[in-house]
Amino acid sequence: MLNRIHPPRPDWYEEFYASAMDKTMKPYEAEIAGYKSLLFANLIGKGDKILEIGIGTGPNLKYYADYPGVEVFGVDPNRKMEKYAVAAAEAAGLPLSNFRFEQAVAEALPLNDASVDVVVGTLVLCSVEDVDQALQEVKRVLKPGGLYIFVEHVAAKDGTILRILQGILDPLQQTLADRCHLTRNTATNIAGAGFAGVDVNHANLSTASLINPHVYGIAYK
Ligand SMILES: C[S@@+](CC[C@H](N)C(=O)[O-])C[C@H]1O[C@@H](n2cnc3c(N)ncnc32)[C@H](O)[C@@H]1O
Repeated sequence: MLNRIHPPRPDWYEEFYASAMDKTMKPYEAEIAGYKSLLFANLIGKGDKILEIGIGTGPNLKYYADYPGVEVFGVDPNRKMEKYAVAAAEAAGLPLSNFRFEQAVAEALPLNDASVDVVVGTLVLCSVEDVDQALQEVKRVLKPGGLYIFVEHVAAKDGTILRILQGILDPLQQTLADRCHLTRNTATNIAGAGFAGVDVNHANLSTASLINPHVYGIAYK
């Protein structure tokens, strides 16, 4: 399933992308920190078992490392992300006994039904092969009452210069950034995925250039 959804990339490409994410995202992470702090405050009393889809280099681990007893399971098809995610967990003070990384895709999660309290996904649905299948998997593994916390970049409004540029540069972005799409309307997929409720907010980030606007919020199972 992993290889069908995410055919293996050459080692050098996976390392290039993982290292680029690790090195270039710091200004973005600094700008989005305020939004993320507010979102992840919803973990209080909810976040015993967290699944992070497309965990990448682990920029979110610092937001939940302080919750006592929290267990984090990160999945990502790019094996080269693991060492960065482990380093991020260590830097955040998350005990490594409470952190696990597995090479897997969001469309086929290696977890039982109703087995996690919270699913987190940031800048991931732009990259998955099948957005709707990934969202059905998120819903499947969440316990009743569980939260899906998301931050995603989406297509700009039709007719804007940014949307025209996104259309032109989308193929290049997919090549350089491991199939990240600039033109998805992911909020529509989340709203239509059958969650009990969805709170969606919008933001524009100066450090994100073409990957704007953002939608962020919480879907409730
Ligand atoms: C733009 S990066 C974001 C990483 C991290 N979530 C962050 O906020 O920095 C996109 C991530 O999605 C991962 N990815 C690509 N296809 C995926 C899939 N089908 N399922 C889960 N993750 C996937 C990539 O390997 C990459 O780590």
